[in-house]
Amino acid sequence: MSDDLQKATTQGKINDFQKKSLSLKLMGGEKQIAKQHELKKLTARERLDLFFDKDTFQEVQLFVEHRSGLFGLDIKEIPADGVVTGFGKVNGRVVFIAAQDFTSSGGSLGEMHAKKIWKVMDMAIAARKPFVALNDSGGARIQEGVPSLEGYGGIFYRNTLASGYIPQITAIMGPTAGGAVYSPALADWVFMVKGSSYMYITGPDVVKAVIGEEVTHDELGGAVAHASKSGVCHVAVDSDADCIEKIKQLLSYLPDSCHSPLPLSDGKDNAERICTELDTIIPDKSNRAYDMKKIIKSLADNGEMFELQEAWAQNIIVAFVRIMGKPVGVIANNPRFAAGVLNVDASDKASRFIRFCDAFNIPLLTLTDVPGYMPGTHQEWAGIIRHGAKLLHAYSEATVPKITVITRKAYGGAYIGMCSKQLGADYVMAWPTAEIAVMGAEGACNIVYRNEIAKASDPEAKRQELAVAYEEKFNNPYFAASLGIIDEIIVPGETRRRIIALLDALKDKAESRISKKHNNIPL
Ligand code: HXC
Repeated sequence: MSDDLQKATTQGKINDFQKKSLSLKLMGGEKQIAKQHELKKLTARERLDLFFDKDTFQEVQLFVEHRSGLFGLDIKEIPADGVVTGFGKVNGRVVFIAAQDFTSSGGSLGEMHAKKIWKVMDMAIAARKPFVALNDSGGARIQEGVPSLEGYGGIFYRNTLASGYIPQITAIMGPTAGGAVYSPALADWVFMVKGSSYMYITGPDVVKAVIGEEVTHDELGGAVAHASKSGVCHVAVDSDADCIEKIKQLLSYLPDSCHSPLPLSDGKDNAERICTELDTIIPDKSNRAYDMKKIIKSLADNGEMFELQEAWAQNIIVAFVRIMGKPVGVIANNPRFAAGVLNVDASDKASRFIRFCDAFNIPLLTLTDVPGYMPGTHQEWAGIIRHGAKLLHAYSEATVPKITVITRKAYGGAYIGMCSKQLGADYVMAWPTAEIAVMGAEGACNIVYRNEIAKASDPEAKRQELAVAYEEKFNNPYFAASLGIIDEIIVPGETRRRIIALLDALKDKAESRISKKHNNIPL
């Protein structure tokens, strides 16, 4: 073959390849893309364009095809088998991705679709880089049968292998039904787009048939429901573009893997900044609420915090902040909701956050203002003992630097639960407004001095008198400080400076524990 002829043949093959690639990249075609846009949803490729730095996306396995001949699939082409997989850079850092495309056979998951996802998950684990899934799928590809279920099984297995090793984020950007909900549930963080996404085990039709309940898709499993009622969704967003932007923001706080350094931000705040606004933030009356988020923002670099599960278990706040450019995980009681009490949901929310931070070497800052655990049959029967134990376990097993600041109430078992010294806090500070006691003064006197109060000519006056004495002894930080149970009492405005000094002092903390297979956290 002459050189010219060979060149022409090669060029022809390249042209063929480019034509095929372009056709595959169109996924379900113009009509389906228009339908997707009508629903205010982007296609997988449009989402990837927003997500990755320009021209950094490398597609993996574009040419994979399904191999099922069942129920008409023998003559059905499903471009890219309904999922775009690959890797690229997000603000200069490598991230692996699987983005289902609803335009291509409803993004349904068959054997080969699943294997494409396995491939990028395996690559992410090997490369020790974050894995992001953008879900938009009708679920298991019905025509293929059990290989689809096998496909999900392999994803769940990989989610579990990757857990605590690389960060895993899932965005729900369309339907997610049945067992398909469990890959998101196994991931670290779940984002949901309001109005266009839903996730549930069984949809409204089955719900109606089985228990006669009438409910819409959105009420049952929309972003708002999961962000405020179930706690399944960590971040509810307004649109696809908002979703991509918020995922990028979250990634900016996370290391690539548990073996990677924490990402450092350039936009550092002033290390010497005194937060004078904190000196007056605690109300005179101990039962008045105040804005704990203001405290978190004061302590954070540039007043920025990334809050998770903001609308669920609002009596506790979990958020990432940066302090001198480095990520820190904040857990704080929120006196604005149920006085910041600990209950089942708050315990779950905080425990999972603590374990994430510990797995990825993110230091923990705990801000305590907790009146106790929520009493009553509702909480007892919901298992507050079991759930509350998670918090004790999570804090105790965490070996990252742990700093605690008691702003006001720290009562009873809840005092212990909010990263007290005996749960391994490296340093516990209290503001002069702190009340550290087994219980509130009145309740304590009612038990300890029951007989004296009953016998007194004016029982109410006697109760008050005894309560004042109890308060003077215990409802302040001095008794705890005198025993070294807290390490220091500080002026609130000084808190940021102290935290900066402590994080610096503790940055090489290395704590080894008894060797064993793994803990058995109460679940
Ligand atoms: C095969 C599917 C599919 C599926 C959608 N499609 N879901 N193909 N298997 N699960 C296809 C449709 O046939 C159609 O193909 C295209 O995707 C677009 O779907 P439409 O129905 O036209 O879209 P829409 O009207 O927007 O409705 C979306 C939907 C509906 C509500 C999600 O498609 C639907 O009900 N799908 C089935 C949902 C389901 O029951 N999945 C199985 C869940 S059980 P054409 O060729 O016409 O474009 C499950 C078990 C997992 O997932 C267990 C894991 C452990």
